[in-house]
Formats: sequence, structure tokens, C-alpha cells
Amino acid sequence: MRIVDLIEKKKQGQKHTREEIEYIINSLMDGTATDYQITAWLMAVYFKGMDIEETTNLTRAMINSGEVLDLSQIAENIIDKHSTGGVGDKITIILIPILQALGVPVVKLSGRGLGFTGGTIDKLESIPNFNCALSMPEIISQVKSIGAAIASQTSKLAPADGKLYALRDVTATVDSMPLIASSVVSKKIASGANNIILDVKYGSGAFMKTAEDAKQLSKIMVEVGKNLGKKFTAVVSAMNEPLGKAVGNSVEIIETIEFLKGNTCCDLEEITYKLAALSVMKMNLADNEEMAVDSIKRVIKNGVALEKFRKLVAAQGGNSDIIDNYNLLPQSVHKIEIKSKETGYVSSIDALMIAKASKLLGAGRDKKSDSIDYSAGVYLNKKTGDYTNCGDTIAILHFNEKSSEIVSLAESLVFDAFKFSDTKACCKSLIYAIIE
Ligand code: URA
Repeated sequence: MRIVDLIEKKKQGQKHTREEIEYIINSLMDGTATDYQITAWLMAVYFKGMDIEETTNLTRAMINSGEVLDLSQIAENIIDKHSTGGVGDKITIILIPILQALGVPVVKLSGRGLGFTGGTIDKLESIPNFNCALSMPEIISQVKSIGAAIASQTSKLAPADGKLYALRDVTATVDSMPLIASSVVSKKIASGANNIILDVKYGSGAFMKTAEDAKQLSKIMVEVGKNLGKKFTAVVSAMNEPLGKAVGNSVEIIETIEFLKGNTCCDLEEITYKLAALSVMKMNLADNEEMAVDSIKRVIKNGVALEKFRKLVAAQGGNSDIIDNYNLLPQSVHKIEIKSKETGYVSSIDALMIAKASKLLGAGRDKKSDSIDYSAGVYLNKKTGDYTNCGDTIAILHFNEKSSEIVSLAESLVFDAFKFSDTKACCKSLIYAIIE
């Protein structure tokens, strides 16, 4: 076999065999295919696509490029939850203690933020001394003792994805359905869980811009997962407005703790309850969604979920006193209030613009090697549907040393992200579809 012939084959829109896909991934891993050959092939896939069988074969080859975790010694059924990336998305950090409180074992391997999307690991590392670099034996022993662990994704799992993603990122081939599906599903299967709940986002603050595209991607991921023997469920949800009120790192940890203390915010609540209820039902711990949601509300109300979060933070070396004293989290020196120039109801808040502002203030990174400012971010004082008088504070920018140009650019982005109307928009569900 020669790579050039396989590029030509995909360029002509023909279907690859399993052996051909394995040859491409093996050549990527052992370096016999050059980066320019792999990117030519990626571009051919981008334009000509792949069917489910090819996508399954690609996913399998990517899984086999590295280690596959064996979690069977923890429990027969392990839940993992994955979001395709959003703005203000702190759901994983809220969900894990809720599931711990309900006796659902969770192993969560997460990534850092890149581009406009935030990352769970960055948010957790804003807690002083919180350690996400757990080894496999550490993960297993922690899940056995407290029911959950959150660790950073190791490069040993599906390493072909790391190589392919780096090439896709710089050759405009990220937004291809078979490539995204194989990337997400290979990492999830290599992480060892057998029940995987995907939160697939669409909208201005997501990779997928339309609900139908997100649904289509979800169907591919669920089917590929099934072909490879795992149960995948996808919740397709809107990401046109940041989730909750905080966007950044330590500001999102505060919002997480407030949620667990019972001070929930309506959009965060809807998605968190749905994902938690699905997890509880997958574990056969509730007969229906209503019972599952009741049990979720109960562990928030009685403080058990908050205590599980305290245990999780302490188990991973973090300072759990932050739960009672937010001043122990990184604090920004500067806080600027953005005032409304209009009176009326907030009709929308553009997620991408808020994410760009937060990144400019230091909360995000362009390259994996960039450092971030844990205390930087944007706090939304108003959400869609809230009544606002001219002069009211609609958002607060948190930042440290930044040039006046950067700060005024962030101010304009946040200001322009808000749209107003004379009438109150009716509260719509964020959930578009559930695919299983
Ligand atoms: N997230 C991933 O893990 N992979 C992609 O290709 C896109 C989003």
C-alpha cells in the first residue's frame, strides 16, 4: 500500500477498507507518512466524507494507537460525561459531586481550554494546589474510596488523535463530522468508561453552528460508539449564550459551589439535571426521569453533593476551605462594571463575543503552551429575560495587568454581546434532541 494511492482514492470519493485506514494511522504513528501527506488525506476526507463503517474503522485504529484504560476493577458500570466545548460550561464540575452523592461512580478525563472554549482542568486548577495529574493507580484508588476522580487526559490515550488534531487545527480541517466523531469517540473509549454521556453543543459558542449539524454529529458518534461495543447517549443543546453567569476559571468555580449550595441558575440547571438524570437512569438507580430529578434535587438540598465536592477537592490536594471562603481563590486586581445604555429586557447575549472578551482578559489561551490567568473572566449580572434599566450593571470584567487597548476591546465585545427588546422573550428549552 502507498499513502499517495490512498489520498487519491479518497480524493475520488471512494470508500476506504479497514486495512487501508489502519495503514494510514500506523503510518502516521511510525512517521512513514509525512505531515503533508496526512493533511492532504485529511482535506480529502473533509471534502468527500466517510460513511459510518469508515468512521468506525478510523475510530478503532485511533483507539489502538495507544493505551486503553481498564476500569473493570472499580465497577461494572462507569459513567463518563463529555462536552464538545462551550462558554461558561462548568457542568462537569457540578455533575460529578451530584453523581457521587447518588452513588454513581465517575472517572472523568478532561482537557484544557483552547481557543474560545474553556477547559475543566484549567477551572479546577484555579483551586490552590488542586492536582489533576493523577496516575492510573491513583485514579482507581480515589474512585474506590470517594466514588470519583477528575484527571487530565494523558497523551498515552488515543495518541493518533493528538497528532491528527494538531494537523487539523492548522489546516482548517477541524469541522469535519467523521473527523470530530472519531476524535471524541476514540478518546472516550480509550478512557475506559462503558456508559458515555455526550453534551453536544451548537450555536455561536460551539464548534457546530446549527442544531441539525449537532444532531447529525451526535447520531454518528452514538452509532460509532455502539459499533465498538459502548453505550453512548448524546444530548444536543444550545450554546448561543454562556451557560450560567460566570465565564473564566475561578469565577466558574464560585458559580459551581453556589449551584451545589442550592443557588442554581436556570439554564445551568436544565442541562445539569438532564445529564445527571440520564446518568442515574443508565445506572438503573431511578425508574424514570422524574424520580431521578427528585433525587438530584434532594442531594443538593441536603448538602450531600456539596460535601462530596469538598471531599473531591481535598482528595486531589486542593484547598477545600475555598468552599466557605471564596477569597482563597485567585482574585483579580481590577473589576470593571459594564453599564447598560438601554432600558428593556435582555433578548440575547452572544456566547462567542463573551468568550472572546474573557480570553482577551487572560482567561483563555491560543496555543497549548500559553499560560492563563485563573482570576480573569467575565461575570454576567443579567441573563436573557432579565429586565434592565439604563445605567444598570450588565456584566463585570475581571482582570489583572492588561493594556488599555485590550480592556476597551473586551468592554466593547461584552457591551455589543447584549441585545435588548421591549418584550420579555419566553424561556425556551436549551435541549434540542436526545440521541441514543
Ligand atoms: N473535540 C474533540 O475532542 N475533537 C474534535 O475534533 C473536536 C472537538
